Amino acid sequence: MKNIPHPIQYQGSKRALAPVILRYFPKNVERLIEPFAGSAAISIAAAAHRLAQHHVINDVNKPLAELLRTIVDQPIELAAFYEALWEEQHGDSTEHYYQVRERFNRTQDPRLFLYMLARCVKGSVRYNSDGMFNQSPDKRRFGTQPKTMRANLIGVSRLLKGKATFSSLDYKEVFASARKPDLIYMDPPYQGVCGDRDLRYLSGISHDEFVGALAKLNANGISFIVSYDGRRGERVFGELLPDFLNLMRIEIEAGRSSQSTLLGREEITYESLYLSESLVQRLDHLPAYRPPSSIQQYVLLEPGVQYEKTFQRVP
Ligand SMILES: C[S@@+](CC[C@H](N)C(=O)[O-])C[C@H]1O[C@@H](n2cnc3c(N)ncnc32)[C@H](O)[C@@H]1O
Repeated sequence: MKNIPHPIQYQGSKRALAPVILRYFPKNVERLIEPFAGSAAISIAAAAHRLAQHHVINDVNKPLAELLRTIVDQPIELAAFYEALWEEQHGDSTEHYYQVRERFNRTQDPRLFLYMLARCVKGSVRYNSDGMFNQSPDKRRFGTQPKTMRANLIGVSRLLKGKATFSSLDYKEVFASARKPDLIYMDPPYQGVCGDRDLRYLSGISHDEFVGALAKLNANGISFIVSYDGRRGERVFGELLPDFLNLMRIEIEAGRSSQSTLLGREEITYESLYLSESLVQRLDHLPAYRPPSSIQQYVLLEPGVQYEKTFQRVP
């Protein structure tokens, strides 16, 4: 896949998985809707491959959605702002970070958020119970170099300018505008750690409400893809989406870990990707993925029996 710009460091970004996820996009997508956009990695990758005519980019986290809008509308001004802020840190970088964080929590200025995300530990947002950003600085790095940031900002703006709309609504409000020629890609906050309240993002979601909202999309014939649960070896994390939604579940390889077993074996992490019935019907073919040689099966189709029965499309 060609070089795709990525200005926002965001833990859980789907940047690395984008090449696999885009394989399940149908042709002629009028609008790609990303209700849980985060760093908008999938929208950016899809735009780079011209897979949609228009992009709807939403995240309930307002400064994040505003940051994405600013990147697209004012990349040059934002690059200059970032550079000035980045240069300021050279006296006492840690103290500078805490000052910027305090300013950000007071003003919610999205431009400050870009710097926070570049400078904080692993690009991972953390909030306290009052919704204040409280992640610490990464003391070993200074954050993306201004020159690299500038190139990434301009790159994203080129891809999305005039083709994207931004909002910071709850995902259910975004669903309400979806039409049949659209595609919704969803990557909701991880489940299972803190229940509906997820400190890693500004908010979590309820599994049952989410399932209900997906059922409505099905009833309206909307095409969608959901990244949801996952598994490492036999250990499953997150609740699976229920069978009655009639989704096709595919497991994609998301990483390897060699420390996770006593025998020092490599364990592979898989993430589930669920495709809606309306989407599967729009696909010319389900892409057959050639596994890297050491892996027996990269894409597992589950539940196979149900899918052969329902769609007759299993390659
Ligand atoms: C796992 S992250 C998405 C990461 C994204 N796929 C990427 O590549 O960067 C989930 C996002 O959902 C957002 N979110 C949480 N609850 C939401 C809600 N009710 N409606 C819309 N967005 C929500 C969070 O702010 C977070 O940015």
